Amino acid sequence: MASVVSTEPKTRVTAAPQPKSELGTEVLAPTRREFLYYIWGASMAMLLGGSGAAIVWFALPRFKEGTFGGVFNLTAARVPQPNGAPTSIPEGRFWVSHTANNELVVLYGVCTHLGCLPKWSLSNHRFECPCHGSKFELDGLYIEGPAPRSLDRFETTITFTDGSTAASNGTGDPIPLEGRTVLNVAINTGKRIKRNGKV
Ligand code: FES
Repeated sequence: MASVVSTEPKTRVTAAPQPKSELGTEVLAPTRREFLYYIWGASMAMLLGGSGAAIVWFALPRFKEGTFGGVFNLTAARVPQPNGAPTSIPEGRFWVSHTANNELVVLYGVCTHLGCLPKWSLSNHRFECPCHGSKFELDGLYIEGPAPRSLDRFETTITFTDGSTAASNGTGDPIPLEGRTVLNVAINTGKRIKRNGKV
């Protein structure tokens, strides 16, 4: 029996050449395991980078000094006379009151009823809310009206010319000056202290 001779040209199968770098060395393609390792590493780096950014964001003060939400520094010139009309600081939304007992207290200038802005009445020597008539003493204590509590206070630290300091307590009671001369009053409008009811 005659054998069939193929006329097809014989082709040689050779391995595909590996890519070469510019220096002529072979560039090895990463294995699947290596590729997954790289992905994992990149994910961890992104996660840690994101966590670090979040920590920095929380650690940095978010409000600038002198803007509402941040700290205000007032010189002694802004401190009113004892039992005098309180000083309004509109940009900080607060009042500085100097009581007849020679104490300082910083009051949040928003009514504790529904958020209107009480005004100081020179003739009646008290704060009066124009919306529903709540009234408050010079030190912010409730007098009458639908407000559920006295005016809120802001955390305050006073520095005196003798170098001593005095700060608000946890309930925001007026700070006694005790005969010392005020150098600076630092008011943190990010730290509001709510009074407990009408006291
Ligand atoms: S908002 Fe001040 S009394 Fe109502």
